[in-house]
Formats: sequence, C-alpha cells, structure tokens
Amino acid sequence: MLSSNGFDKATFPKDFLWGSATSAYQVEGGNYKNQWARWESQGKIENGERCGRSANQYELYEGDFDLAVELKHNTHRLGLEWSRLCPEAPDRFDEKEIAHYRLVLEALKKRGLTVFLTLHHFTEPLWFFDAGSFTRSGAERDFAKYVSRVAKEFGDLVDFWITFNEPQVGMMGTYWADFPPEKNDLELTAREFAGRLRGHAAARTAIREQRPGARVGFVNSISEFLPHRTQDFLDTTYAGLYDYLWNRIWYEAPTTGWISLPSGGPDQFVPELKDSCDWWGVNFYTDQRVDSRDPRGVTNALRGERVTQMGWTWQPAGLYRALQRYSSLGKPLYVTENGIGTLDDLERVRFVADHLRIVSLAVENGMDIRGYLYWSLIDNFEWANGFRPRFGLIHVDYESLARTVKPSGRFLAEVIEGGAVTRTLMEKYLPESYRF
Ligand code: FCB
Repeated sequence: MLSSNGFDKATFPKDFLWGSATSAYQVEGGNYKNQWARWESQGKIENGERCGRSANQYELYEGDFDLAVELKHNTHRLGLEWSRLCPEAPDRFDEKEIAHYRLVLEALKKRGLTVFLTLHHFTEPLWFFDAGSFTRSGAERDFAKYVSRVAKEFGDLVDFWITFNEPQVGMMGTYWADFPPEKNDLELTAREFAGRLRGHAAARTAIREQRPGARVGFVNSISEFLPHRTQDFLDTTYAGLYDYLWNRIWYEAPTTGWISLPSGGPDQFVPELKDSCDWWGVNFYTDQRVDSRDPRGVTNALRGERVTQMGWTWQPAGLYRALQRYSSLGKPLYVTENGIGTLDDLERVRFVADHLRIVSLAVENGMDIRGYLYWSLIDNFEWANGFRPRFGLIHVDYESLARTVKPSGRFLAEVIEGGAVTRTLMEKYLPESYRF
C-alpha cells in the first residue's frame, strides 16, 4: 500500500480513457462449445462450479452498459466468444450470433462509449482446441478467418482491436497444468507460443485488410518474477526463464518480428509480426516470487503478507515497473486490466486508489499512458476459481442476477468526474484504518 502521508492529489490528462473490462465467457453465460465448458464438466473448478449462465450479460448487456455510463465510464472493453460465432468449423459462422454481437456493439456506441474489442480471451472452439490449438501449423489461418469476418462485420463499431488477451496465460495450461489442457511441457508451450504470435500477426493483417487504419494491439499480463532467494542460482535462473516466457517474448517478438523460444526449434522471422502493435495493453495484478524448490517454481505470498481472494499480494510499485518496460517501446499504452478479488469493497477502493496514483505518477514522469480500465465491471466467473472471487465494481446476485453498484464503483466514478484521486475523496470513502 502507498502511504497517504502528505498525499494531496494525483491527476490525469483530460482526454484519458476510463472504464472497465470484461471477457465474453466470464460474463455472458450459455457458452458450451469451448474447452473451458468441457473442463468444468469434468469437475475441475473450485467447488465443482460451472460457468453456466454466469451473470447472463448475453441478455442483460443493455442494463450493464447503462450502469457503466452511470459510473461515468467513457470506454468499455469486452470480448467476443469465438465458439459462439464459429461453433463447428473455421468458416461456418452462426449468422444469428453475428447479428447479436452487432446489437451489443451498437448498444455501446449509442451510449457514446469507446470500444476495446478482444478476439481471443482464453476460450477456443472445441474443433480448434482439439486439433491442437495454436501448436498446429496453419492454425493461425483458421484464427484469421474468424478475425477477418469479425472485422468486416463490426469494423465500424470498434475503436481498439485486441488480438489476444494475455497470450502468456497459455502457460497455465501447457506448463503449469492449472488450466486445460493440464500439461507440463516446455516444448509444447514453445510451440503454442510461436503459434499465438503467428496468430496475432495473421489477425492484424486480416483486420488491416478490412480496416486499413485500425488500431491493433496485444494485451499482456505483466508480472515481475523475482528470485525468492536472491543469491540462489536456480531461483535466479528460473526467474529469468519465466520473465522471458511470461513477459519479454510478448513485446520483443511483435516488435522485431523474430520468434525465439527455448525448446522451440530454430528462430523464425515473421515479416507481418514486425512492428505489429499500434498500442500496448498492460494488465497488472501482482508480482511473483520464484522458488525453485517448489515443484511449480513459483510462490506468491510470503507468510503473513496481505493477499487478495486470489492469494495475490499487493504490489502497486510493480505496475510502475510494468509501465516503464512498455514505455520504452514508443507506442501509446493503456492499462487494460487492473483489479482485486475481494469481499471487502473498501479494500477495492484502496487498491484502485493506490494503483491510480502509480499511473498518475507514470504519466507525470513522461510515460504515454492514455487510459485505465478496471477489471471488472461486474462480478463474474473467475476461471479455475469459479464465482468465489469478486472483482466487480458492481455486485451480481447469481440467484436473481440483480446488479448493485458497490462503493468502489462510486469512488471510481468520482475520480473520473474530477480527473483526480484526491485525499478528500479517499477520506470520504475510507475509514482511517484503510488509509495508511
Ligand atoms: C486476468 C484475466 C481476466 C481475469 C483477471 C482476474 O488474468 O485476463 O480474464 O480473470 O485476470
């Protein structure tokens, strides 16, 4: 936590983009033709939960977007569910679903919101996943077919295109075995990563063919991997490996065009990958400590450290370092996700205030950061952890599906309105015990 001593005000540029982010699968409900739905049916989620109808945003989107506007957001980030649009095969589109998403995007535009659209956010249609996902050579062409149709249909309604959300999280499935396909295989991870990078390049080319001036970016999860024992050779070596796989490859390759991966065979140069991000999205939650004695190599919290419902520690300074890394790439930056899973909403107020103060400082120090999107607008299905973690600015009652704005939602609305986090605002929302 940042100290409030002497703190007065953290300001933001006038044309700053403010809003929140969601992904299709986590909020929509009714998606059963992807690898996650199948994995859930095998009892893999905490408490055996299933995403099911989730928050049913598929039907309730208008009300949710009204709430975003009420909370002063000028931007919204959402995703498309590929398995809904192409449930059976690469070029067999469900026209009803295309019409549906057009209505959804129009609903955002009618409300004057700037739209960030994610094309791939963890879920994949079963036909694609079962054929080897992006490890299969030529998989990028199937991805590009979907992207091309989407760009043709919705190009007039999208301001910022996101090819992949957090492509590095693939490692949770191929290397750390926490997500489907539950593998622990570095060679598979390397092939998957190379395929995702080619997929990004192919998707950007497809979007640009339909919309020449489109702003296409990557949204990366950034986490520093620090050796648990700073002088330990193995801890340091693993930390370096994870830093490369989780962080560096995802901005180096789209900048240079070179894909270079441990266990991934010879380096490849992909011309369309070179300089393929018009902007960068930074998702930040926490940093990691690497302990090579742990079979997974990564430990999160030290004993006694303050953690969120996800077991993640608070590291606002890590956000500064993440922004610093990306800043050197010379393109506009957006914080496309930042948030906290907690049942204590005042903790969320504190979390948002701490991280916004970091963003403001980074802007003041010359970094080109143009927006902040909180994860998430509403409570939703948190992947392997099911519905337990509550990330929303808006509470969802999963029985009645009623939405209730939380104090943190109101806090952020006041920050947006005034263009600043102020001491007065923090004092208004936070009792003394949360302030220091
Ligand atoms: C990110 C994911 C997002 C959400 C948050 C908490 O890694 O992009 O879908 O689950 O974590």
